[in-house]
Amino acid sequence: MSDERVVTVLVAVRAPDEEAAAVTVLGAQPRVTVTRRCAELTELLASAEAGAGTAAVVSGDLPGLDREAVARMRAAGLRVVAVEDAATPAARLAALGCDVVVAAGDAENLVAAVRGAPPEVVEPSVAVPDAGGRRGTVVAVWGPPGSPGRTTTAIELAAALAGVGAAPARRGGLLRRSRGTRPSGSVRPPGADTVVLADADTYASSVTSRLGLLDDAPGLAAAARAASRGALDVVALAHHSPVVLPGVRVLTGITRASRWPELPAASLDVVFERCRELATWTVVDCGPILETDELITYDTRAPQRNGATLSALQAADVVVVVGGADPVGVQRLVRGLEDLRDAGVPGVAARVVVVNRVRDAVVGRRAGSQVRDALARYAGVDDVHLVPDDPAGLDAALLAGRVLAECAPASPARAAFQDLAERVRELVPALT
Ligand SMILES: Nc1ncnc2c1ncn2[C@@H]1O[C@H](COP(=O)(O)OP(=O)(O)O)[C@@H](O)[C@H]1O
Ligand SMILES: [Mg+2]
Repeated sequence: MSDERVVTVLVAVRAPDEEAAAVTVLGAQPRVTVTRRCAELTELLASAEAGAGTAAVVSGDLPGLDREAVARMRAAGLRVVAVEDAATPAARLAALGCDVVVAAGDAENLVAAVRGAPPEVVEPSVAVPDAGGRRGTVVAVWGPPGSPGRTTTAIELAAALAGVGAAPARRGGLLRRSRGTRPSGSVRPPGADTVVLADADTYASSVTSRLGLLDDAPGLAAAARAASRGALDVVALAHHSPVVLPGVRVLTGITRASRWPELPAASLDVVFERCRELATWTVVDCGPILETDELITYDTRAPQRNGATLSALQAADVVVVVGGADPVGVQRLVRGLEDLRDAGVPGVAARVVVVNRVRDAVVGRRAGSQVRDALARYAGVDDVHLVPDDPAGLDAALLAGRVLAECAPASPARAAFQDLAERVRELVPALT
């Protein structure tokens, strides 16, 4: 007797004649059984998660079929076979993360597709078409709670990587304009890098107000929605990320913490991959919390509260970890570095530790070397990057809704963030 495994198939095909044809063709195969004919997506997902099938055959026009739904089926161990239709082309279905796409009425390939191996990993894969050889670098800016300066670091790093202010400063309210319009002039050196700055802090997003932007629809959530539908190409991503500084696009964050489910990890995985095609650098401002909810970790249906941060860290080539220079900040930073390690985020190529707001008043004399010593001793970090306390510069930037290059170009903090940008560049030799 053959040892070929038995294939159990859940069928959710919308057009009645196509559904009947699929069921007939599959049912006639040896060791293939159609276990459920599902009228709608919720029934399909419930059957998948109840373990009723090893493969799902879905039509592209099934209402609600999106990236999260495909990820759930794949997480339940199913091979997802999508049937193309006129309204839903193969590329869109592949972008949803489906394992195979077959043409409607192609019985031979349908049978081969359901017989194929189940997904190797239960984690949703990032099915993104080839980036055409050019792939930007993702930098996640993370730090423990307590406002150590994650957003400040993300914004200033983005500006420095794009070379904002490297040429004589331009007059005029570039940042105080409605979203979606492009700046007229450039203050970047020719050939400078491009940057996408993404606000993925789902607890207290602030890039929008820090850059004096209008508080309208969050660009990152819109990009995530498009990714969820399999419709996020570079053109759509560019549409959702207006240029707000020369060379810097922004994907604005959610306006209320309660909107966190709009930034699911399965969609952001795609957004960050797409960003690599749009810009040389993608700088992500992350929320401070890393933990996964123990109770729902194994519940693949439950969205993860910290999925956005975990997705950014997962995608990152470089993680910039920001802590505050005061005794509380240093202690949190030491624990934060442990948490980051325990979070088991793979694919982290490099890590830079930044200690922000370094000042003698809160640490004692020679604050910089004291902070270095403490981090070397308690966290084994011996290459800390220090950013001085600079209330004059940062307050002016906050008041004006601008970056330091525009309103305090001689600020000591700006110089430190420029050095940080150089350090990050050095970590990615292929792009320098
Ligand atoms: N080096 C610095 N010197 C002075 N003020 C700073 C510095 N870095 C950040 N700040 C200020 O600290 C506050 C919190 O910074 P922020 O970047 O928003 O932190 P987080 O994103 O971690 O919550 C802001 O008002 C910011 O202007
Ligand atoms: Mg912040």
